[in-house]
Amino acid sequence: MRRTIRTRRRRRRWRKRRAAVLLVIMALMLTGIVTFIRARSTQEYRSVNKSIGEYVVQANDGILAADTREKMEKSLYVPRKIDKSKKLIAFTFDDGPMQGKTERVLKALEKENFRATFFMLGENVKQYPQVAEQIYKSGNEVAGHSWDHPLLTKLSESQIKSQQDRMNQALYEACGSKAVSFRPPYGGLNDSVKKIIDGPLILWNIDTLDWKTKSAKATEKIILEKAKDGDIVLMHDIHESTVQAVEHVLPILKQRGYEVCTVSELLEAKGVQVKKGDVVLSAHQIR
Ligand code: NI
Repeated sequence: MRRTIRTRRRRRRWRKRRAAVLLVIMALMLTGIVTFIRARSTQEYRSVNKSIGEYVVQANDGILAADTREKMEKSLYVPRKIDKSKKLIAFTFDDGPMQGKTERVLKALEKENFRATFFMLGENVKQYPQVAEQIYKSGNEVAGHSWDHPLLTKLSESQIKSQQDRMNQALYEACGSKAVSFRPPYGGLNDSVKKIIDGPLILWNIDTLDWKTKSAKATEKIILEKAKDGDIVLMHDIHESTVQAVEHVLPILKQRGYEVCTVSELLEAKGVQVKKGDVVLSAHQIR
């Protein structure tokens, strides 16, 4: 009788130990999984969407010398550390560059270690080539918005091509690169535009209406109330009110856990691959 009691006790103790050991193993496994997920979400990745980057290298092929091509491939793949677990918003600026305003936007972005995409007009790049170069050299994205802002859907295919070629020539002369992507003026799209324009067509899903209100407060309000993870925000770096809104809103977005990035960075981080003719409204809306 005493023996059986002792055996039972021993068994009970053993069971307790086994449960404890199992618990420790499970806890260790859970820690491992969490660490693995964390490491993956903060891993470094290339700042330019690979498909866009490769496309631009191809697009620039005809105008590049062999050593320039090599330099360009390098410059297209400058790694910027982005925490993928953060909420990402792409800021886009149209109709510039504008001397005295674009530089302030660049400075405000640099201050928070943010970047953005600039959809430039060829005629303004020709007027302010040093500002276009500054956009490129500061790791922001060089993108195109036509030569002088016509509604492309009203133009012939050869006129659309001329708008693109003149714009790209001005960009190339200013900073050594053609446009990485394109935004048609007024968002005007048809089959001819999709056929002629090199690269993906980037629209937006958050319109700040900054050109209409010309109010820093109203522009900020739309960004802070509407913009969320994966969105593409439309602004114009040619208005004083927009510059002020950007200067004020960037630190607030940082505080709220957002990372402001280029369109390519956004698509890369969200695992979205785009090609010529694709229409992009946000990381979640591709047509
Ligand atoms: Ni425009």
